[in-house]
Amino acid sequence: MHPRSRELHEGARRSLLAGVPMSWMSMWAGGHPVYLAEARGAGVVDVDGNEYVDLCLGDTGAMAGHSPAPTVAALRDLAGITTMLPTEDATRVGDELARRFGLPSWQFSLTATDANRWILRMARHVTGRRRVLVFNWCYHGTVDETFVTLEDGVARPREGNVGPMVDPTETTRVAEFNELSSVEAALAEGDVACVLMEPALTNIGIVLPEDGFLAGVRELCTRAGALLVIDETHTLSAGPGGCTAAWGLEPDAVTLGKAIGGGVPIGAYGVSAEVAERIMSAEDADLEDTGGVGGTLAGNALSLAAARATLEEVLTEAAFARMSALRERFVAGVERSFAAHAAPWCVVSLGARAEYRFCPEPPRTGAESAAASDSRLEEYLHLYLLNRGVLITPFHNMALMCPATTEAEVDRHSAAFDEALAELVD
Ligand SMILES: Cc1ncc(COP(=O)(O)O)c(C=O)c1O
Repeated sequence: MHPRSRELHEGARRSLLAGVPMSWMSMWAGGHPVYLAEARGAGVVDVDGNEYVDLCLGDTGAMAGHSPAPTVAALRDLAGITTMLPTEDATRVGDELARRFGLPSWQFSLTATDANRWILRMARHVTGRRRVLVFNWCYHGTVDETFVTLEDGVARPREGNVGPMVDPTETTRVAEFNELSSVEAALAEGDVACVLMEPALTNIGIVLPEDGFLAGVRELCTRAGALLVIDETHTLSAGPGGCTAAWGLEPDAVTLGKAIGGGVPIGAYGVSAEVAERIMSAEDADLEDTGGVGGTLAGNALSLAAARATLEEVLTEAAFARMSALRERFVAGVERSFAAHAAPWCVVSLGARAEYRFCPEPPRTGAESAAASDSRLEEYLHLYLLNRGVLITPFHNMALMCPATTEAEVDRHSAAFDEALAELVD
């Protein structure tokens, strides 16, 4: 079904490392990625003319759907692309993010990774502390400090960490998600500048917080004088203001990226009035030029025009309500198949996002979640679905709904998933 994609992939080996423009594109099941001809709404067509329902949606980068009309219109009508001058769009995006997340002051980067990198520097600078705290099996982009996992309760560099400058266990403490005592222990020495966390883990399957866990982390941070930074890059799926708004969280800072530009590169971080004041009064910090936070193209007119249109007209309150209802339909389909084929698996959801797991109960920690993954099963399901016109994210089993996803598209997944289970289990 994919001869032209294979041919293009073979040609790409001439000039691209491993034949792909970005190394994770090698992770698509089937030996090579399919090549894109067109992406619109929740649909993708490959160069061989195969049509797909796209539930991968650029691993959240296209949560707004592919090429949403208001975003494309804003791009056609650009004031410019990059000039080093601000546009009014930046203020409109800042105002909208402040309204959604309850944090008054925002800055923009080109990726969520950079938003995380910069807020870690800010946190270290304003607290005068050296370490950060992250959770076991977290992912926050390619941020050096975060490549640490727990092995038998001891922090170790994450397996496969490429060329670390320093051993990340020197910069980072690690706690277990949903285990407040491990957070308390990691904060005990008073050397942690900030806790960087997703409000629900999303990169090792979805691990939801138990009642009281996030409030407990907030309280421990306040007591220890550490800032609480919530990374909403993926958990924006919970609603227009992510989990921060949906669950009434009170972070000192929020980081974002991917979806808010409708697919155009952008990242952002927002801080509380108190943190803003501490940053602005740090006279020894060269924030404007060579202090280590910033980027030439960050805050450019193109990214912010895309984000303005995407936030104001595409990823709206009404769109999230629709996406969440579609996700419920997706989950119902998956659960019907589990029951029909007596598969001892579960599915976990967060707003517009859902993920099936190879274990009977939702994992409650990163370690439990990592133990429930099975790369061969994943590859089987990903390839089975791809061959029947459904794409899910290549990294694990995540499926995401966008404002343009239809019930028929969800049902196409339900049917293909049911056939996959029938062949596997019956
Ligand atoms: C929670 C979270 N934060 C940050 C990032 C980094 O995003 P990007 O790769 O666009 O910089 C990711 C990427 O998957 C993520 O899952």
